[in-house]
Amino acid sequence: MAKSTTTLTGEVTPLAAQSMRQPMPSVYVEEPVTIIIFGASGDLTLRKLVPGLYALYAQGLFRERFAIVGYARRSYDDSSFRERMREAVKSFSRFPVEDARLDEFISRLYYHKGELEDIESFRALKVRLQDEARYPANRVFLPGDHARIFFAGDSKSPTGLNSLPPRTPNLGREL
Ligand SMILES: NC(=O)c1ccc[n+]([C@@H]2O[C@H](COP(=O)([O-])OP(=O)(O)OC[C@H]3O[C@@H](n4cnc5c(N)ncnc54)[C@H](OP(=O)(O)O)[C@@H]3O)[C@@H](O)[C@H]2O)c1
Repeated sequence: MAKSTTTLTGEVTPLAAQSMRQPMPSVYVEEPVTIIIFGASGDLTLRKLVPGLYALYAQGLFRERFAIVGYARRSYDDSSFRERMREAVKSFSRFPVEDARLDEFISRLYYHKGELEDIESFRALKVRLQDEARYPANRVFLPGDHARIFFAGDSKSPTGLNSLPPRTPNLGREL
């Protein structure tokens, strides 16, 4: 006998019918954006965040230029971080990986070495991000270390795209 599940309206729908549901509508990133990933050398970034961003890119969901900046303590530079992320995408992507697309994606990645507890690290990041030709001014902060970073909406960006971790000293005001 087929298993069944209950919809929000209370109707009972066979599980088989779920595979015939319409796909989710696509959501495009319509504006230039810089995505900053805290905990960028960690497992979550390697297994989920960067392969997931690659999948969005490969499906054409970034319609404007973008940059991804990884932030962690380990001693990567842009070049070694890119190679690490290239291997991560190849290992963990659930979306087919094409070398040319992957090269394009990887070229948008950067690494910023810093401590979460050190305000000077964030000041250096702020200075770096002022190069808006490379790092578009709309900023999205992704937590790769949930235990340390908490997020809240921010009013600084006219587009509302910025979100900031207010528990990190001054970051909410200074980035
Ligand atoms: N892994 C998963 O698939 C997964 C899935 C769901 C949720 N999560 C959650 O995501 C969070 C991260 O998990 P993870 O598996 O990625 O952990 P992880 O492998 O231990 O990575 C932690 C990251 O945080 C960075 N970090 C730690 N302390 C730092 C500091 N003081 N300053 C700067 N960077 C610092 C580390 O960088 P350095 O080592 O370079 O300093 C590393 O990049 C956890 O809360 C976990 O529960 C993980």
